[in-house]
Amino acid sequence: MKFKAIIFDLDGVICSTDEFHFLAWKQLADSIGITNFTRADGDFQRGVSRMESLEILLRKSDRQFSDEEKLALAEQKNCIYRQMLGTMSEADLSENVRTTLVALRKSGKKLAIGSSSKNTMYILERLGFGSFFDAVVDGNMISRGKPDPEVFLKAAERLGLPPEDCLVVEDAAVGVEAGAAGGFSVAGLGEAAGCEKTAYPLGTFADLLAIMQ
Ligand code: BG6
Ligand code: MG
Repeated sequence: MKFKAIIFDLDGVICSTDEFHFLAWKQLADSIGITNFTRADGDFQRGVSRMESLEILLRKSDRQFSDEEKLALAEQKNCIYRQMLGTMSEADLSENVRTTLVALRKSGKKLAIGSSSKNTMYILERLGFGSFFDAVVDGNMISRGKPDPEVFLKAAERLGLPPEDCLVVEDAAVGVEAGAAGGFSVAGLGEAAGCEKTAYPLGTFADLLAIMQ
């Protein structure tokens, strides 16, 4: 057996909250006169911290914003985003993800989350998975965001395993970079399936079962 554990990214891997992120940033963009914020711009925000995501959005504005204003804008976006998260329930965890996670757990693998999001626990609770994972490391616990490997290294440490025993699962290019920089093998979904450093491109989340056998 090659891997003893999996460390999952959250947004875009376990759940589709990446769509809520985009919609919330889009609403914020409209409110400050940025009308040309597109899904392609949103793709650059995948995996990176809230403040870095804001910087990506503000590149589309002619205005300069002070640090205080930026904090207020990030807070505004988070309020919109949290309202969207509030509509989520256990039904929002796809059957594919749920059955795969349960099967992996039954096979004795350790399962962890390594996410940049400060809303990680809130999201896991809404999905009914608040106490499912063996370790959860999120945006509140790290000082350097992806592509720095800190979040994944901390998760592996909490599992008591070296990186080579853990598979990282990502949907973002910066997440693949982070996993590879930490010495992890990386499985990629969506755009991450096509990254050079992705060892295991995934067509669907359930493909993990074959890799972990
Ligand atoms: C990542 C998302 O998981 O979390 C990013 O891919 C997001 O788009 C980041 O900016 C931070 O999320 P939050 O919930 O702390 O604003
Ligand atoms: Mg992601």
